[in-house]
Amino acid sequence: MTTSWCSSPRSSEAVEDQVHVRRMVESDLDEADRITRLAFATFRGLPQPDAALDDTEAVRTRFVAAPDCAWVAEIDGEVAGSVFAARWGSFGFFGPLTVDPRLWDRGIGSRLLEPVLAAFELWQVRQAGLYTFSSSRKHLGLYQKHGFWPGHLVAVLGKPVAPVSSVYSLFSQAPPDSEASLLDEIRELTSSVFPGLDLEREIVAARAQGIGDTILVRGGDALSGIAVCHSGPGSEAGSGVCYVKFGATCSGETAGDGFDLLLSACEAFAAESGLHRLVAGVNTGRLDAYRRMLRRGFRTDLLGVSMYLRPEGERLDTPDQYVIDDLR
Ligand SMILES: CC(C)(COP(=O)(O)OP(=O)(O)OC[C@H]1O[C@@H](n2cnc3c(N)ncnc32)[C@H](O)[C@@H]1OP(=O)(O)O)[C@@H](O)C(=O)NCCC(=O)NCCS
Repeated sequence: MTTSWCSSPRSSEAVEDQVHVRRMVESDLDEADRITRLAFATFRGLPQPDAALDDTEAVRTRFVAAPDCAWVAEIDGEVAGSVFAARWGSFGFFGPLTVDPRLWDRGIGSRLLEPVLAAFELWQVRQAGLYTFSSSRKHLGLYQKHGFWPGHLVAVLGKPVAPVSSVYSLFSQAPPDSEASLLDEIRELTSSVFPGLDLEREIVAARAQGIGDTILVRGGDALSGIAVCHSGPGSEAGSGVCYVKFGATCSGETAGDGFDLLLSACEAFAAESGLHRLVAGVNTGRLDAYRRMLRRGFRTDLLGVSMYLRPEGERLDTPDQYVIDDLR
């Protein structure tokens, strides 16, 4: 699409004056998606706009999951960039944040962070974070300017799916009348890892949109592990892939062994779903979890860095935690 500001960029002051940040609406989706793909492809120096994200989908799925957590920047009524925030109970993060490459370095990214920071404040999260490119001076500089400071490296790991035996159940298989109590049980587990951590929105969104499911692993009657997985095209995973968007095992002495059982369940679910690759991100601050994944044959697909708004506050990346997330 050719617009006045695209074909004839204005001075940085003039553009900044005209930036209007507002809630995303459904009619923004095509343009927000186009810009998101183009921005990542441009940043990575890829010739095709779709090359960076392929048939993965994040803009539409995140908007449908939480339309109140998505914003766009517009200029002269045209979308110039967008951002999504996620509220996992007491923990918040944001991404993807993207701006049309023709308008980079004019303060639009900073403007898009304003509603995100206001939302974290409103939600009174205990901690907030993000994933970004560890080697980009611009990304670190931008986020530091807004109060986020680097944490550990985040390794997005992948492995070919192999047949593995595992006993697990799925959230989608639970009878509707037990859903609320199951969500309470999951909340209890995630709260043992980080007080107030709540994945309900991701769990419900994956099932409602048909883009994945939540794996439940039990030790006896008690829930010992959960993993919210996206599967295939149109989800955050893409063709042939099972992507563990979030996973956790109950904290305590047996958490490490429980983590291995959870990884087996994810691999078994991927195999039974006809998928050939399992992808899961882990914060390397969770050193034992990272090592256990490497021992199982996971290799690094992508390396980034986590950044936190309250670096001295409560964290979700200590060696005691057995959590899968990459905050992308
Ligand atoms: C990242 C992105 C959203 C930033 O948007 P933007 O509108 O260009 O960003 P802004 O103009 O608001 O801010 C740029 C900031 O980068 C920082 N920066 C740039 N170069 C820097 C450097 N060499 N060292 C330190 N900081 C630097 C500065 O803080 C600068 O803001 P300032 O000039 O006001 O101080 C945009 O570049 C983009 O879409 N990239 C591709 C997709 C992507 O990487 N998204 C983020 C994934 S985590």
